[in-house]
Amino acid sequence: MQYKEVRDSETTYTELMIPSYANFGGKVHGGIILSLLDKVAYICASKHSHQYCVTVAVEGVEFKSPVEVGDLVEIKASVNYVGRTTMIVGMRVECFKPQNGIVRHTNSCYFTMAAKDDLGNLVEVPGLILSNDTELRRFCEGKFIRKISQEKREILKSNLTNITRKEMEADCKEERCQIK
Ligand SMILES: CC(C)(COP(=O)(O)OP(=O)(O)OC[C@H]1O[C@@H](n2cnc3c(N)ncnc32)[C@H](O)[C@@H]1OP(=O)(O)O)[C@@H](O)C(=O)NCCC(=O)NCCS
Repeated sequence: MQYKEVRDSETTYTELMIPSYANFGGKVHGGIILSLLDKVAYICASKHSHQYCVTVAVEGVEFKSPVEVGDLVEIKASVNYVGRTTMIVGMRVECFKPQNGIVRHTNSCYFTMAAKDDLGNLVEVPGLILSNDTELRRFCEGKFIRKISQEKREILKSNLTNITRKEMEADCKEERCQIK
């Protein structure tokens, strides 16, 4: 089996937030940031696997503060964990305001990317060489993220489809909804 260094696929991408990225409130659309994250995850995953990659799942995307027009958004990405055909790419997003030099950490998230061949079949990706404590910690975090994401899928698949209307009504009793 082939192994590759984390640093070989580490990616840093910077983009200026231009006025056409703004929503009615004058801030940058969340979807613009998601699209950038997807692009950077692809770059990082394809550098590691040397394959065409597709996005399988997204974990932990949340916006802690708004991104503004004129900000420089910097995304730092690395392959944190590899399974057999998938990679978890961890990304840290920072916003830099050139006028005052202030840097804000706006979010961190994890994209699961799968490697595919020309026929669309999943292909095995190289293993990871973990060269320091940070890379080892991120690998273990990635393993944990994969586990809880699998558990979440199982819960959604089973429990919520078996729940009766009566149970659902009881569950929503204290919620701000009217059930007809
Ligand atoms: C996700 C996908 C690759 C799974 O294919 P599958 O044949 O059902 O996969 P398997 O159950 O054999 O699992 C294959 C790998 O995907 C992982 N996987 C499958 N579903 C997953 C999910 N919902 N979240 C995270 N990982 C998932 C498995 O853990 C496994 O990883 P590993 O090989 O690293 O151990 C397939 O459904 C797919 O190609 N989806 C479309 C992806 C795409 O086109 N994205 C772009 C959207 S525009």
